[in-house]
Amino acid sequence: MLTLGVLASGSGSNFQSIIDNINSGFLDAQISVLITDNPDAYAIKRAKKHGLDVVVIKMKDFTDRPAYFSHIAGELEKRGVELVILAGFMKVVDKALIERYRNRIMNIHPALLPSFPGLHGQKQAADYGVKISGCTVHFVDEGMDTGPIIVQAAVPAYHDDTEDSLGARILKQEHRIFPYAIKLYSEGKLSVEGRKVIVDADREDSILINPPL
Ligand code: GRF
Repeated sequence: MLTLGVLASGSGSNFQSIIDNINSGFLDAQISVLITDNPDAYAIKRAKKHGLDVVVIKMKDFTDRPAYFSHIAGELEKRGVELVILAGFMKVVDKALIERYRNRIMNIHPALLPSFPGLHGQKQAADYGVKISGCTVHFVDEGMDTGPIIVQAAVPAYHDDTEDSLGARILKQEHRIFPYAIKLYSEGKLSVEGRKVIVDADREDSILINPPL
């Protein structure tokens, strides 16, 4: 069984979808810890409700980013975490953590990368006027939302969409593809070659990920 460590700063609805997919048996995994930088994160309530360990680690208690992220890496390693899940973790991860978990950190981004990286991907897409947007699960590298792409899902975008209306449509897909990407990893179906992720799954599976628009 795959041991996960989740990092989240906010509401944690993606965190919740992972919990739900473990409980339903879709995912053969366990969550050994929720780490947050925000003592008020709603994700903490979700973790406690499900009896999961929570560790709050604040940046201001450390001298610099490498020290902060190397402390987080230590917390993950000591709990036997094999795959790190960034579920709305609002800090750019430092290489002090990335190097210890190379190609073992997954992030979800609310746009079709490489379009609209960084903050507010939903607003960027709505303001730009694209007709299709979506979400991306990728491995984390040293860049800003630049790591190898694992799974994407598309949604339509309309001229009168706002950050919130488009964001809600995207979030529904986030809750589907993040657990799916973790499942592929847990079954040993992902390998990274350069910046490409080779997915060892039936091509027909892509319909599960990209439902008809
Ligand atoms: C999501 O939109 C995700 O794509 C982004 O942060 C948000 C987290 O939402 N990385 P939640 O906390 O999972 O509800």
